[in-house]
Amino acid sequence: MTVAVRSFAKINLGLYIGAARADGYHDLRTVYQTIALHDVIRVSVERGSRIEVLCKDPRVPLDSSNTCYRIAERVLDELGAKSKVSIEIEKRLPVQGGVGAASSNAVATLVALERALKKKLSGDARLRIAAAVGSDLPLFLVGGTVLGVGRGEEVYPLLDLPSVSMVVVTPEIGVSTPKAFADWDALMPQDKTTELRSAGQPGAAVPTQLTQPLASDRLLEVGRVLSAWLSSLPNTGASAKGGSRAGNLLSDLVRTGIENDFERVVFPKYPELRDIKGELERAGSRYASLSGSGSTLYGLFRSPAEAAKAARRLRKQGLKAVATRTLTRQKYWKQSLVASR
Ligand code: C5P
Repeated sequence: MTVAVRSFAKINLGLYIGAARADGYHDLRTVYQTIALHDVIRVSVERGSRIEVLCKDPRVPLDSSNTCYRIAERVLDELGAKSKVSIEIEKRLPVQGGVGAASSNAVATLVALERALKKKLSGDARLRIAAAVGSDLPLFLVGGTVLGVGRGEEVYPLLDLPSVSMVVVTPEIGVSTPKAFADWDALMPQDKTTELRSAGQPGAAVPTQLTQPLASDRLLEVGRVLSAWLSSLPNTGASAKGGSRAGNLLSDLVRTGIENDFERVVFPKYPELRDIKGELERAGSRYASLSGSGSTLYGLFRSPAEAAKAARRLRKQGLKAVATRTLTRQKYWKQSLVASR
């Protein structure tokens, strides 16, 4: 039996990085939003005991390091199932692009494999297995608008934001997420300032670093900004039609000044990405940002027509730009399954 599942991408509506943790990860706060761009994952099972990954894109690893392989291994183990599992990845999304493609591919594999085996994991087991494979996987078990805390793996469904028109630009640059986090650490004074503050140091010269906000202070501040933004949404649009709700969401989002911290380390390294953000804004985007650690950039627009026009303009400038839309939780799940045969 073969099960085909759409593996949708995500963007980050704001991303704030906190202190480096003892386990090597960073605490963060982000709002994930699933979008309509997708890969397709086809999973088939037959008698045997081997996992194989097939993909025509040479940038995708086919060995046991592939996220699809890793999750399939765990799903089989958890279900106590023994099968030959074939996973075919039809790649359309950028690789190392900051839109969570590898994470989404893995979750699509989990969903398809459960169907192919006609067995179901508990919700808790699904989330646990997803988080073990990577921080950005669990969001794809929720879909729509999702709050991400912890290292990003702790996810909570948020009020489903209405669908918003957008343009996604995918430059031919792969950004390593661990490297981007390391660059962030080099930029931000973190634990050192905490130690100095708690030690008190009366009379000691105050290092300039102390005048900068601590990582934990920033996350608290961000929590307040996000909470204020999200709690304003039902009031501004609960009874309004989709279009005006989307419009309100955009104005509110722009007002919060929500940001992606990765821009501060990725833009200096790849100035062309900062330029693309500028081009999105010049093309009429109400809100433009890097997604995750990049290199994908997106811009939110007031209408599908405005997004389509902007995408055309960016393509004329030689950029790989496509008009699409955000995907509500309901649509995410409704459109996820392609076919079974
Ligand atoms: O969880 P995932 O495997 O996607 O993370 C890849 C790497 O990115 C981690 O090993 C870590 O170096 C970095 N990371 C981090 N903080 C996070 C998420 C990822 O430092 N919240």
